[in-house]
Amino acid sequence: MGEVLFEVTDEHLETGMRGYPVGYCVTSSVDPTKGLFYMGRPVGEMSHWSPEETIYLINYGRMGTEDELKAFSQELAERGKLNLKTVEAIKRLPREGHPMKLFSCALLIAGMFEGTGDYKEDCLNVIAKMPEIVATLINHHAGWGDSKPSKPQLGYMENFAHMLNVPNASIDDLIRVMRVFNVLHYDHGGGNLSAFTGKAVASGLADMYASLSASMDALSGPRHGKANQDCLQFVKAVLDEVGPKATPQQIEALIRKRLENNELVYGFGHAVLRVEDPRATVLYGIASEYYPDDPLVTIALLLRSVGSKVLSENPKISDPHPNVDAISGTLLSASGFPYPEYYTVLFGLSRCVGIARQIVYERIEARRGKGTPIIRPKYYFKEQSLVHG
Ligand code: MLT
Repeated sequence: MGEVLFEVTDEHLETGMRGYPVGYCVTSSVDPTKGLFYMGRPVGEMSHWSPEETIYLINYGRMGTEDELKAFSQELAERGKLNLKTVEAIKRLPREGHPMKLFSCALLIAGMFEGTGDYKEDCLNVIAKMPEIVATLINHHAGWGDSKPSKPQLGYMENFAHMLNVPNASIDDLIRVMRVFNVLHYDHGGGNLSAFTGKAVASGLADMYASLSASMDALSGPRHGKANQDCLQFVKAVLDEVGPKATPQQIEALIRKRLENNELVYGFGHAVLRVEDPRATVLYGIASEYYPDDPLVTIALLLRSVGSKVLSENPKISDPHPNVDAISGTLLSASGFPYPEYYTVLFGLSRCVGIARQIVYERIEARRGKGTPIIRPKYYFKEQSLVHG
């Protein structure tokens, strides 16, 4: 018998396993007061990192040399080629419903035509193929026509922006913002819902693509990835109510009114963080530098300061600070991508990088190569009268 570490009481149950140790994460960690680190390096320092060098760091656990990064970019370009059958099948998906549903289907389709059944191979393959998979599904869902032919030599996110037929956008603006958005969303420790779900599904030995498809279903919920879409809609609603010349006093009154009416104030609080999310800090910086006159940016910046002040007054709110969703959608919109229903897809395009690498660890590296067993937590039986009788 192992040592009994603590006694389980009612208070430990039905808490979303908040903070319970489960295993090791080899890609990133989240500190409540310092934020997110990829392989021990704070993301706050990564605003100018390229996707390729960050993906290399997450995959190999160290910085690549110039030659290694060149070879890695070449490798991604080669692995990135999509089977025509994948593209054709994605283009036959129904266009009704939220694009996250198409994303989940697209990953299953990709698994059918691109999967090798080897977690390590599929990890790099799916990361490399992700920009074209996502560009294909967004162009199809939005009715923007066929993607432009892939040009991986442009760079990982440069190619994505090039393939996407965004109407009336400046490609330089899109690339600037999509690159940093992509880098900042790769991973967020081992216990966030999409990472945990993907690893749980893979623990039953489902393949990489099916596991990531399940991860994306997890990400699609408004408490997780879809918060970035909902947040932009909130910033827009605030702008509509107070106008572009709003004062901090007006914003404060609006927040207080919402709280009194038990309405949500979006973009604040996090399951782990207890400070402003450093990813948000980076994005606020870019928004202020490049798009200071955008009315949504003005409102998001006012919400940043006034919101924290008002929410801090309530001792029941454990984290009154802005999270990454508070600004990510506003910044995407200001950069020429005002399509909130695709924001969670962009989050997923990025997040699959970290999840795929975490799956490789759990399947083939953990426990000296044996891998972790199938997830099977314990639930207590509880008798109760039927609530939906
Ligand atoms: C995030 O990126 O903030 C996460 O996926 C949410 C979490 O850490 O639970």
